[in-house]
Amino acid sequence: MHHGLEKSSLSSAAARNTLLFGTGLCTSDLLSQPLTRAILRDCSIVTPEYELKWDAICRDPDLPDYSAADQLMSFASDNNLAVHGHTLWWHEAVPPLLGTSSEDQFRDAALDHLRATMTRYAGQLHSWDVVNEPLEPADGRADGLRVTPFLSAFGPDYIETAFRQASALDPKAVLVLNEMGLEYASPTAERKRRQMLALLEREKTRGTPIACLGIQSHLTALEQPRDHPDLRAFLREVRAMGLSVMITELDVSDHLCPQDRRQRDALVAETYRAYLDLAFEEADVLAVSTWGLSDDRTWLNSFRPRPDGAPQRPLLLDRAVRRKPAWHAVRDALLNGRRAGARIQ
Ligand code: XIL
Repeated sequence: MHHGLEKSSLSSAAARNTLLFGTGLCTSDLLSQPLTRAILRDCSIVTPEYELKWDAICRDPDLPDYSAADQLMSFASDNNLAVHGHTLWWHEAVPPLLGTSSEDQFRDAALDHLRATMTRYAGQLHSWDVVNEPLEPADGRADGLRVTPFLSAFGPDYIETAFRQASALDPKAVLVLNEMGLEYASPTAERKRRQMLALLEREKTRGTPIACLGIQSHLTALEQPRDHPDLRAFLREVRAMGLSVMITELDVSDHLCPQDRRQRDALVAETYRAYLDLAFEEADVLAVSTWGLSDDRTWLNSFRPRPDGAPQRPLLLDRAVRRKPAWHAVRDALLNGRRAGARIQ
């Protein structure tokens, strides 16, 4: 109950600028008391890390199982935390058995899943990643759309279909289009930013009810530029379209950093600070969520292990749930951050 009021917490720093701060979490996190306490202290919003994904709910396609998601929903409601729903349609979370079905079967199954899930939780979530990672420049299409079973089954209108369904089923939730790699400095990332702006324009013209762009923000220290004029320009355009932004899965990989902990922690902290400062200057940010709070819970040790084998230190709290320089950097950014969209122009 007191998480929003406690002095010196990230959620209270965020609240000063009418922002939410939160983390991804899994049911297993609730087994750790120190971690649970840290979540309650620092967060005003939580994102189930996999419990709401289609393949997690439909391990048995004939018997959807919402028990893990329900457990996180009760934890959130018992503790007054908002919930960000992750995610309804994502190519990586298609139940394996559906891989072999016909396009008609796939379409029915995808719509059933979206409808059942949104009906079950309607009115209970702050926001939903309705579609996750729709773009893949390397797939070679002019519109940049990733070639997925959703695209094959519905055609390029699948995004519109998903958002229209979602908005009818849960009209109060903020409907988010979530994407990775929009934040990088590479030429591919710049192509993706352009394709995203074109996609958003197209959907806006059709009246697709997308309210918010989710920017995953899996960053890498020493790779993510401090000044990033292309990202600035992109965020400005997103805002000019009337869209808000959620930073949905922020973490800072240290796999390029030297092993020395103090240096690593300083580089990671600085990356968080510069990134959030830029985002707050240019975008109407509703919420910032990290992908885990303490370093022992990061997905990066398997996804992007350090070449020297040392465990990654990409999050805000160390393995003993103590605050790291990154925690302080994020708090400073949240305190200084003024929501660009909230400014009177
Ligand atoms: C990851 C989770 O962290 C892992 O635990 C899971 O096994 C795979 O997915 N982009 C996303 C997230 O949208 O769903 C991914 O999360 C990380 C990349």
